Amino acid sequence: MDRASELLFYVNGRKVIEKNVDPETMLLPYLRKKLRLTGTKYGCGGGGCGACTVMISRYNPITKRIRHHPANACLIPICSLYGAAVTTVEGIGSTHTRIHPVQERIAKCHGTQCGFCTPGMVMSIYTLLRNHPEPTLDQLTDALGGNLCRCTGYRPIIDACKTFCKTSGCCQSKENGVCCLDQGINGLPEFEEGSKTSPKLFAEEEFLPLDPTQELIFPPELMIMAEKQSQRTRVFGSERMMWFSPVTLKELLEFKFKYPQAPVIMGNTSVGPEVKFKGVFHPVIISPDRIEELSVVNHAYNGLTLGAGLSLAQVKDILADVVQKLPEEKTQMYHALLKHLGTLAGSQIRNMASLGGHIISRHPDSDLNPILAVGNCTLNLLSKEGKRQIPLNEQFLSKCPNADLKPQEILVSVNIPYSRKWEFVSAFRQAQRQENALAIVNSGMRVFFGEGDGIIRELCISYGGVGPATICAKNSCQKLIGRHWNEQMLDIACRLILNEVSLLGSAPGGKVEFKRTLIISFLFKFYLEVSQILKKMDPVHYPSLADKYESALEDLHSKHHCSTLKYQNIGPKQHPEDPIGHPIMHLSGVKHATGEAIYCDDMPLVDQELFLTFVTSSRAHAKIVSIDLSEALSMPGVVDIMTAEHLSDVNSFCFFTEAEKFLATDKVFCVGQLVCAVLADSEVQAKRAAKRVKIVYQDLEPLILTIEESIQHNSSFKPERKLEYGNVDEAFKVVDQILEGEIHMGGQEHFYMETQSMLVVPKGEDQEMDVYVSTQFPKYIQDIVASTLKLPANKVMCHVRRVGGAFGGKVLKTGIIAAVTAFAANKHGRAVRCVLERGEDMLITGGRHPYLGKYKAGFMNDGRILALDMEHYSNAGASLDESLFVIEMGLLKMDNAYKFPNLRCRGWACRTNLPSNTAFRGFGFPQAALITESCITEVAAKCGLSPEKVRIINMYKEIDQTPYKQEINAKNLIQCWRECMAMSSYSLRKVAVEKFNAENYWKKKGLAMVPLKFPVGLGSRAAGQAAALVHIYLDGSVLVTHGGIEMGQGVHTKMIQVVSRELRMPMSNVHLRGTSTETVPNANISGGSVVADLNGLAVKDACQTLLKRLEPIISKNPKGTWKDWAQTAFDESINLSAVGYFRGYESDMNWEKGEGQPFEYFVYGAACSEVEIDCLTGDHKGLGESGVFLGCSVFFAIHDAVSAARQERGLHGPLTLNSPLTPEKIRMACEDKFTKMIPRDEPGSYVPWNVPI
Ligand SMILES: Cc1cc2nc3c(=O)[nH]c(=O)nc-3n(C[C@H](O)[C@H](O)[C@H](O)COP(=O)(O)OP(=O)(O)OC[C@H]3O[C@@H](n4cnc5c(N)ncnc54)[C@H](O)[C@@H]3O)c2cc1C
Ligand code: FES
Ligand code: FES
Repeated sequence: MDRASELLFYVNGRKVIEKNVDPETMLLPYLRKKLRLTGTKYGCGGGGCGACTVMISRYNPITKRIRHHPANACLIPICSLYGAAVTTVEGIGSTHTRIHPVQERIAKCHGTQCGFCTPGMVMSIYTLLRNHPEPTLDQLTDALGGNLCRCTGYRPIIDACKTFCKTSGCCQSKENGVCCLDQGINGLPEFEEGSKTSPKLFAEEEFLPLDPTQELIFPPELMIMAEKQSQRTRVFGSERMMWFSPVTLKELLEFKFKYPQAPVIMGNTSVGPEVKFKGVFHPVIISPDRIEELSVVNHAYNGLTLGAGLSLAQVKDILADVVQKLPEEKTQMYHALLKHLGTLAGSQIRNMASLGGHIISRHPDSDLNPILAVGNCTLNLLSKEGKRQIPLNEQFLSKCPNADLKPQEILVSVNIPYSRKWEFVSAFRQAQRQENALAIVNSGMRVFFGEGDGIIRELCISYGGVGPATICAKNSCQKLIGRHWNEQMLDIACRLILNEVSLLGSAPGGKVEFKRTLIISFLFKFYLEVSQILKKMDPVHYPSLADKYESALEDLHSKHHCSTLKYQNIGPKQHPEDPIGHPIMHLSGVKHATGEAIYCDDMPLVDQELFLTFVTSSRAHAKIVSIDLSEALSMPGVVDIMTAEHLSDVNSFCFFTEAEKFLATDKVFCVGQLVCAVLADSEVQAKRAAKRVKIVYQDLEPLILTIEESIQHNSSFKPERKLEYGNVDEAFKVVDQILEGEIHMGGQEHFYMETQSMLVVPKGEDQEMDVYVSTQFPKYIQDIVASTLKLPANKVMCHVRRVGGAFGGKVLKTGIIAAVTAFAANKHGRAVRCVLERGEDMLITGGRHPYLGKYKAGFMNDGRILALDMEHYSNAGASLDESLFVIEMGLLKMDNAYKFPNLRCRGWACRTNLPSNTAFRGFGFPQAALITESCITEVAAKCGLSPEKVRIINMYKEIDQTPYKQEINAKNLIQCWRECMAMSSYSLRKVAVEKFNAENYWKKKGLAMVPLKFPVGLGSRAAGQAAALVHIYLDGSVLVTHGGIEMGQGVHTKMIQVVSRELRMPMSNVHLRGTSTETVPNANISGGSVVADLNGLAVKDACQTLLKRLEPIISKNPKGTWKDWAQTAFDESINLSAVGYFRGYESDMNWEKGEGQPFEYFVYGAACSEVEIDCLTGDHKGLGESGVFLGCSVFFAIHDAVSAARQERGLHGPLTLNSPLTPEKIRMACEDKFTKMIPRDEPGSYVPWNVPI
């Protein structure tokens, strides 16, 4: 054994040798910090987002093949990489050499916005293409299943990748000869618009071709090493941890004997997250490397034996092959496993995770264990003492000591028997979404009839997600043996199983009634599946399924996303070189795709830099009794721990009317509130020390979490806001009908892919401070930092190159974090970096405000709403933040597209003990307008009309007046509505949906169309002012800067388009470096959909000033170049720099009177969505894609589908559905015999696991 092993692997074709490797190091920080390959991004650290995707390649000397697979660098211990080749986004192409076709296409197809997810996307597709140069659409969507994007929406990303597919068409479905591209969507005729639009964004023939011979080759040295060198156990060690990589089975057993408690790390996708998120520590790790016996694939007479070391992706491929080759009756188990292997996590995790690791981890929501548990599988174990077999059964899964592995044993392989004739196996699963989400409930079911008599001889049913381990319904199954497979059996089975697999009302994870319903809904599906097969096998003896039942068995339709986009053509009079109005690629698009775009945490370490991490409150409302820092301060690398005491009189800042505290003083008001800040030499040290800070709390009353509780305690931020128009009380007296209702809307995480990040650098002279930060509002960061450091603003400069997504979440909270970070930097005179981990970010920063909307509507029988009285309550959380402003915007926009002649709307921001909620895409508008749309839907139901009919009846009519008496011309709104009706073939679609619903009992479709009026403006002129600075250099090149922040919306690209038009020069002649308080002072926040509007006018102003100065020179030499003109101007002492300025739109709003002109103009839109739901599980699938608010057309389409289901079941009463419409809510609203069968707990008889907010 080589005790001082050297770690050797390759990164992007270059050899990496590490002599003193720390086994705790993961590949992601190693790439980013050590190798300075910052293209690979940190998004979650737990394998869930795909931002860190790299390609891992290994050579197998036995098969002589190289295997390339995608992997999440955040979960790969570098010690596991010996002999592997790692390819990162930098390794496949760059702007300095040649960009890769994947990088080119994702950029050119507008597949990037903020670009933070893009390198991960690129690497997932790149790896796919290495294995399948002409992938199918299925392979493509499968490859992207583990990658999240929060800005772009997946359509343009998929469009880009589809160009590599052999058939790059749309739905790829030519069944019945119909493809969506040929015939309009779903075969419905398309709306004709004439020549104003063009359907294409890019010309495929201009793309770089994919040429596999150009790819990096697998390093020959690694091949030779694998072939020639005798393998030796490798040992890596640090002070805290030892890592052993045995290469033979014998050695592995020796290690396991010596260190029985050490985990056997395979994919590290189970152990890794435990270490990272649950603080588990293993002093010794055993990580087998290339042990052949762990990769066996053996076809024996009784079944298939699969090595425990095979990855889940390999298992999937092996099973896919086996089911092709063997008769179907033998492969029932394999089909069931394949079904779940298709949706288990994403491709990266499936390629890392091993079969053995999956089984041994025994996660309660494991997708494979419930299937394996019903299939009589055996585990082949080995230790120094010898071989042993144990059944993979319920006892094993619940870790009963006498049914489990002994600590020194390892799992070598698993035997999965073939199925027999008259034996059927199925698998079921329901998750929040179909891909990359853990199951809420999953199940494996097997029945064996022995022969064709339909009498149950064996029955096994197991469930995941319903307890601390996979649970088998053993007793129920036993009692059903000998029964016929018929409805009576089903009925008894449901009752028995509900009794046996019982869930307490307080069960962890909540969703108790949904889970109970799924338990029997799955059983019903299994019953139908088997009945259908029996009928096929023996049509004489088995009855046909009733037609209406068949729909329970089919998958949801429209598997692939179809998309057609149309781009408006520019007018014929526009100069061909004028880029305005053209769909120009994001100017950072290619850099996003090559990983060259630099985000805050990609900046190199500054000399002597420190890392800051926060300790946050674990109580929602409590007194801080004591804080003990002593142990944390004694930890290695710790420099300081700061509390409110240190910040003393600079521990708060007032942005609106109420000062926000930075660090808690004597009390905490929410979980996640910042209590102290730990400063250490490295991130790891700071995090370790933070865990040792001991805080003693004493809980306080009242604890207010929900809006209802805040109303009860009269806890809200002042003032209340109100809008009133017409005479509501009088109008209620004359209407035909009145309804009252309410709707709840849950909150939302920002989940910007780049977490809050900043680097504060003291300049060492004149107290100057540079703040590099991911924010939407540099001026605010400058102000808060200057105030905290008691410096004038001119000493603090804030710089933002780009932001990896913000959505409203990078303003006030960022300011608080920046203030503390700057305080630390100033105190120690050293640069300080603070980058939140995903979990911290989600805990600390709040998100979208949950809302409660109450309404009373008075309307006529023809659908006209004459009186509307509304109340908006938002859950603002523990501090004011921007909550009042959100309420105000919600009130101003609640009318959406409708004229309510008599309206009263009041709004309150409720103070609760939740982390403070803040600005979020739409800023109160989506919540407020959803309340209105929900009310309209209910009015329609009362009038017996379609919601669309009631929408158009109440819509603004051309020249009209808003509730705050601003004039509006809604001509374009009506036109949008009509166009949307026509383009979506609404009427034909409606008929088709109704027909579908009449024919299908267990699947329902729904259709909804929603209009949008979005008022543009910030409510005050000062908030709308903008400035820009344009320099012309003597070589004729131009540098522009402005106050807007590039956060994915492409504002810098648009500003360069403006310069290009104004100065009549190509865009390539103009550059933009980023935003800084040094170049454009006092810039307003980037938000509210006006950044390009306002800054564009400022840029235009600067260009016009310059042009005016240069006009005489240009007209003297009209054929000259910009270089000539600049030189002449310089020679004539003409200033080649200009500041541009825009004062802001005239706007005002008087809240006392409820009147004003808060907005400059209105934009309009409309969206139509069609969805299909599975009434038994709540699964759903939508067609079409729309913006944030218009996304609620999906909500109302689901509402429509659920209504159809309820009507068919004889439930005709009103239906209120709360948002978000999760599978749980959909399933529970589609009431049926199964929802009636489940036990219900009396409210108050148990403590629920969670409180709906
Ligand atoms: C982002 C993410 C999403 C996921 N989504 C899903 C999902 O949708 N559905 C689902 O079912 N699962 C999901 N998982 C869980 C995943 O399936 C498991 O983490 C994985 O299968 C574990 O395999 P591994 O090789 O990585 O285990 P490791 O983490 O390497 O090891 C896990 C455990 O198994 C033991 N072990 C491993 N091999 C052996 C052996 N040969 N002998 C003895 N002991 C052994 C180790 O000692 C350790 O205790 C997800 C995980 C992540 C990180
Ligand atoms: S998957 Fe690795 S950072 Fe998210
Ligand atoms: S572009 Fe995908 S997260 Fe921003």
